[in-house]
Amino acid sequence: MTDGGQARRYGPLGTVLVIIPTYNEADNIEPISARVREAVPEAHILIADDNSPDGTGKLADELAAQDGHIHVLHRPGKQGLGAAYLAGFRWGIDNGYGVLVEMDADGSHQPEELPRLLTALKGADLVLGSRWVPGGRVVNWPRSRRLISRGGSMYSRMMLGLPLRDITGGFRAFRSETLQGLGIDVVASQGYCFQVDLANRAVRAGYHVVEVPITFVERVRGNSKMSRDIMVEALWRVTAWGVEGRVKRALHRRHT
Ligand code: GDD
Ligand code: MN
Repeated sequence: MTDGGQARRYGPLGTVLVIIPTYNEADNIEPISARVREAVPEAHILIADDNSPDGTGKLADELAAQDGHIHVLHRPGKQGLGAAYLAGFRWGIDNGYGVLVEMDADGSHQPEELPRLLTALKGADLVLGSRWVPGGRVVNWPRSRRLISRGGSMYSRMMLGLPLRDITGGFRAFRSETLQGLGIDVVASQGYCFQVDLANRAVRAGYHVVEVPITFVERVRGNSKMSRDIMVEALWRVTAWGVEGRVKRALHRRHT
């Protein structure tokens, strides 16, 4: 946002699609959809459900039947957050949306803050809702979870050499051209490190990535799907990407 020419470089945003991945979010899906509809009435919603045993998918169908702005993508079983988002992105691109938003179902991401992300996206390729920039906050997280998140972002930032504070967050707005340019079909991560992967790819590809402060509120209903496996996947992948990036850059220097 330092470059005065940027305002001219960016085209209009186009229609917004808010993708909400769900796995057992029966208590949350109706209220969160209503908040999105209220906060950004022109936006559409895509609920990407992994055949939740608690019936979230059926509730989503009922919402979609009553509201032309709500759509549902049913997936056969739990395949991870990354896979759900990739399928959602593909659906959004195929259906001509200009902006694809990532948002959790559990109320941790406030739909009321979405207009601020979208305003920032007018001058950017990708906007990250950020807990760890000035003005960003986390409400009701135990110290342990706070440490894991800050530590994860710090480790990723160091390993990957990224100029970003919140690299693992999941409240984001992409221009659809950005995702198309990144070639999302090759993103392999299944769990939450998918977020690190996309941020890393966007910076490496030279996209203009902007962080906007958000207030993250820990869920009141239902359970987090964060697990040891998800953390382990993130740790080994980030380490591998970091090493790979260093080796590539070193080889590149030797040959030029
Ligand atoms: N379809 C689908 N499939 N959805 C999933 C899956 C899955 O396998 N796993 C999780 N989700 C959905 C949840 O239903 C929820 O809407 C959202 O993804 C986030 O899951 P949570 O379990 O609530 O995540 P969290 O609160 O522990 O994690 C937060 O922090 C992470 C790390 O910073 C979120 O903000 C994540 O987006 C973030 O990456
Ligand atoms: Mn959550």
